[in-house]
Amino acid sequence: MSRSVPVVPAVPAFLLALGLALTACSGGGVHGSPGSSGVHDPYFPKAGNGGYDVSHYDLKLAYTPGQGDRDRGQGSRLTGTATLTARATEHLSAFDLDLKGLDVEDVTVEGRPARWSRSGQELAVRPHDDLDADETFRVTVHYSGTPETITDPDGSEEGWLPTADGALALGEPTGSMAWLPGNDHPSDKASYDITITVPKGLQAVSNGELRGESTSGGRTTFAWRSAEPMATYLATVAVGRYDISRSTLGPGHLPVYIAVDPTQARAARGVLAKLPEIMEWEEYNFGPYPFSSTGAIVDRPQDAGYALETQTRPVFPGAPDTTTLVHELAHQWYGDSVTPKTWQDMWLNEGFATYAEWLWAEDHDGDTAQQTFDRLYAHGEDDYPDLWSFPPAKPTSAAHISDDPVYVRGAMVLQKIRRTVGDDRFYDIVQGWAAAHRHGNADTDDFTAYVERMAPGKDFTGIWRDWLYGKGKPDRP
Ligand code: TRP
Ligand code: ZN
Repeated sequence: MSRSVPVVPAVPAFLLALGLALTACSGGGVHGSPGSSGVHDPYFPKAGNGGYDVSHYDLKLAYTPGQGDRDRGQGSRLTGTATLTARATEHLSAFDLDLKGLDVEDVTVEGRPARWSRSGQELAVRPHDDLDADETFRVTVHYSGTPETITDPDGSEEGWLPTADGALALGEPTGSMAWLPGNDHPSDKASYDITITVPKGLQAVSNGELRGESTSGGRTTFAWRSAEPMATYLATVAVGRYDISRSTLGPGHLPVYIAVDPTQARAARGVLAKLPEIMEWEEYNFGPYPFSSTGAIVDRPQDAGYALETQTRPVFPGAPDTTTLVHELAHQWYGDSVTPKTWQDMWLNEGFATYAEWLWAEDHDGDTAQQTFDRLYAHGEDDYPDLWSFPPAKPTSAAHISDDPVYVRGAMVLQKIRRTVGDDRFYDIVQGWAAAHRHGNADTDDFTAYVERMAPGKDFTGIWRDWLYGKGKPDRP
């Protein structure tokens, strides 16, 4: 793609900051003020931005991989045009997008060149004209460069991960800012059109449905659409060589799109054949599947050793086992459709997905969920300290949001609820929760209030106090 010279040169950050400060001093009224540079997430305060709400991301990306294993992505190049449709939630003179690394070439708002500056992960945009509260606007960013791999507070790798024959984008919790300018926080969900152009011979896989594929001039373009709302951390792109299998599922002919790195094909075949059965079992237990397609991506990232519940198409770092497939598909209901309001509510994702593993075992000749609970409870603070190190609803820091209390003790909370209300009511709660917040956001208070509403006369005080928020191992199982 050719790029024209920026119409307005980049303004030095200090000048823009001065401009923003002056506007801020004028105190509302006739003049707008800048939106905040974060949404005050308790664990990732700079993630997301205040003052607007994105409804749609239109991403046109072109990617040329580097030398794969040899250069670990150094020679690769991503070129992007991102057009966001958003609504101002206050009278704005400026707003931020999250973007880490890459070079910004220009920014326009409503088709007019905007001033912009960068500082860390913040791309501050000052539109030519203020945006009125409630005004819908479009912002377009042209950018390019070699995308970065980001190291999480917990030491794992996310963002843009080179593979032997391409790349894989993983976004939890703050990795999407490595490849798209956006509002990188789970509280702002939007629909997406992601179009990726790659050298002919490679494939590009993303979330949702493949709307078109065309080759010209030695390059192939893949157009993907996610119509249902998606959090930035669940967006993915996988570029490389894949064995693709397409089919449909059930009476509604739900499209299934599975992409497998050829080196993993043999090992993955058996487990992926179970995807229809797992989907059916999860619909039976959790309620209607919330999205308009499903599938999986099995790849071989060089640095990530974890699976991720990327929307409609979970990613696996090599052939998964059945339990992991059950876990990531369960996230489509719990995490992807019902999404946490902040990263503090991670246990609502991981507790449910882990509990799905227990239920699968219970329904498939394994231990009952109660046996699993009992086996875990038998561990003391001395022989399994990590399980009891903090309560699921209050991780000690961003470095710990994916630790065992969030997953395992989170699932134990669900088993406690099941024992309190009985099986029938429990499944009503599990399905009702997914239905009540379908395609939305929810937090722990929403959950505890919902459970109480669904089971009048039952007392959950001890469960919330000891299991959800209490320090150390609860006294009673
Ligand atoms: N959500 C993933 C899963 O359990 C795990 C994971 C990957 C994760 N990256 C993370 C959890 C970053 C917390 C933060 O399926
Ligand atoms: Zn999970």
